[in-house]
Amino acid sequence: MRIIIQPSARAAAIEAAALIAAALDAKPDLVIGLPTGRTAVPMYRALAALHRAGRASFRDATSFNLDEFIGIPATHPGSYRSFMTRPLFRHVDLPAERAYVLNGLARQPRDAAAAFEAAIETAGGLDIAVVGLGANGHIGFNEPSRALSARTHVVKLHASTRRANAALFGGDWHRVPTSALSMGMATILGARRVVLLATGRHKAAIVTRALGGAITTRVPGSLLQTHPNCVVVLDREAARGLAARISRA
Ligand code: GLP
Repeated sequence: MRIIIQPSARAAAIEAAALIAAALDAKPDLVIGLPTGRTAVPMYRALAALHRAGRASFRDATSFNLDEFIGIPATHPGSYRSFMTRPLFRHVDLPAERAYVLNGLARQPRDAAAAFEAAIETAGGLDIAVVGLGANGHIGFNEPSRALSARTHVVKLHASTRRANAALFGGDWHRVPTSALSMGMATILGARRVVLLATGRHKAAIVTRALGGAITTRVPGSLLQTHPNCVVVLDREAARGLAARISRA
């Protein structure tokens, strides 16, 4: 695991965007897993800026979003499809038909999940999975649990996760859907490279547990420790506890 610590959240976002741009340059038909969340927004803005500057093209790329809420249409402002459109999709040249986001209104979510997995496989598997880290340790919507699902599946969201997503639903967490579809941990860990971006003081404790603690399904992010090619991009605030742990070791 390679850990890069930047002085600010903005610098960390720019670093993560630069990693993605370099990967696109090396393999224009990159297959990339993309996260949502506030942390990812500055990274997407940086990527859009790189695209405008002619330094990142998604023309031949394929993206798979990690997750989507169940029960709301893609057009809903709180959907992750809408979330992706605002800072990234509408600003770059990624063809709409190759920007896969799970369908939260699928009549049979399990079939949608299976079709999503099949599409990843047809695309040749994920070259990179870019992920964020929930404050409770979740990756995508793989919530802390006694056991985790390997592949894309339906999840019941924890109350803390619904609260963390309230801003997308007018600040009222009761309006946040109770379930979602999420790429499974095995699918994410099957990516040839994983890039984790986490920033802010409020992430310091979970970053310490996920990267410096025991590997457990109770902290899905801790499974990243098992990946042979995982790059972690943090700002100083998120790395606080980790730095202390490393210097004590
Ligand atoms: C959401 C997403 C996750 C994301 C997490 C972190 O719940 N489903 O994929 O990593 O939030 O979000 P934030 O960056 O806003 O802390």
